Amino acid sequence: MAMKLNWGMIGGGEGSQIGPAHRLGAQADGNFAFVAGALDADPARGRDYAQRLGIAADRAYGDWREMLEGEQGRPDRVDLVTVATPNSTHFEITKAFLEAGFHVLCEKPMTMTVEEGEEIVRVARASGRICAVNYCYSAYPMVREMRHMVRTGQIGRVRLVVTNFSHGHHGDATDADNPRVRWRYDPAMAGVSGQFADCGIHALHMASFVAGDEVERVSADFASTIPSRVLEDDAMVNFRMSGGTVGRLWTSSVAIGRQHGFDIQVFGETGGMRWASEQPNQVLYTPVGGRTQIMEKGEAGLSDEAARLSRVAIAHPEGFPLAVANIYVDLAAAIRGQARDGLPTAEDGLRSMAAVHACVASAQAGGAWTDARPPMFR
Ligand code: NAI
Repeated sequence: MAMKLNWGMIGGGEGSQIGPAHRLGAQADGNFAFVAGALDADPARGRDYAQRLGIAADRAYGDWREMLEGEQGRPDRVDLVTVATPNSTHFEITKAFLEAGFHVLCEKPMTMTVEEGEEIVRVARASGRICAVNYCYSAYPMVREMRHMVRTGQIGRVRLVVTNFSHGHHGDATDADNPRVRWRYDPAMAGVSGQFADCGIHALHMASFVAGDEVERVSADFASTIPSRVLEDDAMVNFRMSGGTVGRLWTSSVAIGRQHGFDIQVFGETGGMRWASEQPNQVLYTPVGGRTQIMEKGEAGLSDEAARLSRVAIAHPEGFPLAVANIYVDLAAAIRGQARDGLPTAEDGLRSMAAVHACVASAQAGGAWTDARPPMFR
């Protein structure tokens, strides 16, 4: 029986959006003990909440630098640190913990710039530590099944990937100046891209993940449909993958009526498949010339990978926190020295940042085709 690994979190404080999914995910399978945290931008709130979650007072830190200093010197220091703070802080926190020899799971987007992304890749490689990025949708069992079907040739060469990540939750113009909404479209707070960097990059990562190929070129059209917004709230991106696969991606935050709105369709020479995050237990599969079939998580005959990452009985909803838990299962294995195919890495985080910046440049140039590969990988 393996000893539990020690785990700490930065950000994800009380009331945060993603914090609960990390706490549920990290602790779902008994691999990690939650022993340290700097959970909030407000030190007192962070200390208080950490202790209410069961963290000892001397490891309920006021900020991440205090946590780095405190943990570095301990014999029982944390093995893994999750960075779940707002985007602009990811780079310095992730870099500092990697350099100090900790494994890191960083939220997306990993950095704000391509240069920072390359720096994280270099630091992670030099440190020999794991730096993963939380592209958690890729860890749903039926997404792994789609990937397996592509890899084993069950739909032939992939011709076309079409993906959307479009919701309507920022579509109310009367709410556009609400500070919790406004910052996402303000370059000073959000960086060079709004909706594409927030949601589009999940879709782009998923396209690469399922097709087993990298995005090489992009042509983007960005729009701020609510005029007070500087950054885009809607984007259409055409892309080409290195193996020739054609990609189409739509992301929007003004698509009123769409709730979560993340789906992907993969069309190959001999079949097509569709998965949607709002029905994550199913993949629709159509062989060429045949009928559409509903493949269900938990049914007999699925790949080992889909079976391994599914732990509630067939037809029960296996939701978002357990997809995050699958990232932690693989992180635990990787920390213990077993290679885990499919764990999103710093290289994936870097590719996303390069794609974000390429899309911004393309949109500014009227949709000109632009190289989306990080300079380091050209
Ligand atoms: P949020 O605004 O709801 O919560 C952020 C939390 O971080 C708050 O508790 C805040 O007090 C804390 N915080 C801020 N600065 C801090 C600092 N310097 N040190 C310690 N704590 C600090 O934000 P949300 O939506 O939870 O997003 C956090 C990150 O997670 C973002 O990078 C976002 O892109 C990502 N995210 C990823 C998702 C996914 O599907 N992988 C889904 C939602 C968010």
